[in-house]
Amino acid sequence: CPVRLEVFRCINSTNLALRERTQEEEGLVLAAMEQTNGLGRLGRSFMSPANTGIYFSILLKPQIANQEVTLLTTIAAVAVCEAIEKYTDKKPQIKWVNDIFIDSHKVCGILTQAAFQMENLDPEYVIVGIGINLYMPTEGFGKELENIAGSVLQEQSGDIKNKILAETLNRYFYYYKNFAKKEFIAEYKKRSLVLGKGIRVVTKDGERKATALDIDDICHLLVEYEDGTRENLSTGEISIRLQ
Ligand code: BTN
Repeated sequence: CPVRLEVFRCINSTNLALRERTQEEEGLVLAAMEQTNGLGRLGRSFMSPANTGIYFSILLKPQIANQEVTLLTTIAAVAVCEAIEKYTDKKPQIKWVNDIFIDSHKVCGILTQAAFQMENLDPEYVIVGIGINLYMPTEGFGKELENIAGSVLQEQSGDIKNKILAETLNRYFYYYKNFAKKEFIAEYKKRSLVLGKGIRVVTKDGERKATALDIDDICHLLVEYEDGTRENLSTGEISIRLQ
């Protein structure tokens, strides 16, 4: 599909702006240098100050099964890692499901929003929103986030924002075009921060210690609990903490 990129200096949220334009053809990308109302997962907000990151959203109209829609987020995680690897010496890793970490700090978040028509039909549209913290914000991330959030680079060193954005889109649309091959799954697993490790599985009922064993073709995480029972986790309200 033809990719069309529009870049804004400042916008409320690229996901919200794209939602107003879902009648357009897939491949539309809205990017911003700053967001005043950046949206995060689970109703949280995503800090998006100027001179810090690159925030963008991709409009897709895929012909895939509903349960495969999460893979459009998987592709984003892999594409961002590959772009960072190409232009920096950093080794980003993916914390299931979609957070990208460098040196124990989250440097990228992804928010995918889909409108489903009816079960067994393709989604009407999907918006994949990606926020990458390239540099530290001048004011810092604030008390609440300072131990969690980080940036790809410690200080500004030439502007690689455009390169990272362009390469992420290149890689994204490569994997999207070749979706059926599912090449991105192996790339995702290679960069997994959790596979083979002890984790804590957190749900609304509490948390349990487990080992992350595998990730399957629809990005479900197979875990084994301490009592030997196994479970295949899909995303939703589950979160994972490293032990
Ligand atoms: C998360 O980690 O909770 C997901 C954060 C997603 C942030 C990106 S920035 C571009 C796009 N527009 C938004 O309002 N949110 C996403």
